[in-house]
Amino acid sequence: MMTLYKTIAVEAARKAGALILKHSTLEKKLHFKGEINIVTDVDKLSEKIIFKTIQNRFPDHNLLSEESAPICNPQSGFKWIIDPIDGTTNYAHNFPFYCVSIGLEISGIVRLGVIYNPVIDELFYAEKGKGAFVNGRKIRVSSCDNLNHAMLATGFPYTIRDHPEPHFKLFQTFCLNTLAVRRAGSAALDLCYTACGRFDGFWESNLHPWDVAAAQLILTEAGGRISDYSGKQYSIYGTRILATNGLIHAKMLKTIKKAYAKK
Ligand code: IPD
Ligand code: CA
Ligand code: CA
Repeated sequence: MMTLYKTIAVEAARKAGALILKHSTLEKKLHFKGEINIVTDVDKLSEKIIFKTIQNRFPDHNLLSEESAPICNPQSGFKWIIDPIDGTTNYAHNFPFYCVSIGLEISGIVRLGVIYNPVIDELFYAEKGKGAFVNGRKIRVSSCDNLNHAMLATGFPYTIRDHPEPHFKLFQTFCLNTLAVRRAGSAALDLCYTACGRFDGFWESNLHPWDVAAAQLILTEAGGRISDYSGKQYSIYGTRILATNGLIHAKMLKTIKKAYAKK
């Protein structure tokens, strides 16, 4: 049965990705959900095509997606967790770093994750217990064990104007203690890039389940480690994520602890 879920998730991600790419050079209609939080008409079209693809096959499954109210059926243990475009600000500005994210939670556990970056036709996929892949090739996290030599990724929440200090404090600390820090604007791709060794670690706060559901499974299936900022068990419904190749996890935790202690 997992094969069918995978087929549908991949079909939905590819269909949405093609549509996103087709509209990428056209003028987009922007709507401000918050002061610096935008959504385009294409986010909504992408969501529509994903919903249609899933609902045609599984009409009674639950859907949790960024741009719509949740569709709830308490009788079903299946929940599709969807970000129709992760990296909307990038997309609206023709900055080519964005993706479609589709995760499937079964009885409270994410068992399937598909992330599709239509710009470079890269499809990341993982099934719980079966490893992680990009375009069919098995992936693994990096082997960097020295924080000084690590390239990290992060992002900032749309609420940054309200409480900038803790975000900048951590950003500064990691900039001063690593090789480099990237802030590219798609948490789902940041996690996939950590999963395949392009980044060595990633941290961010205030993300939502649709940003992380699929990608955190891809990361752990690629051999990565994931926790909250204090090293405790991570939940996609939690607010803080630290995801690494495992080898620099303890060092990043220590750095985070120090940065918060200095507040
Ligand atoms: C955003 C991106 C970004 C992260 C933001 C997210 P969106 O998602 O993942 O990298 O820093 O916190 O909300 O709005 O483009 O789907
Ligand atoms: Ca997102
Ligand atoms: Ca989004």
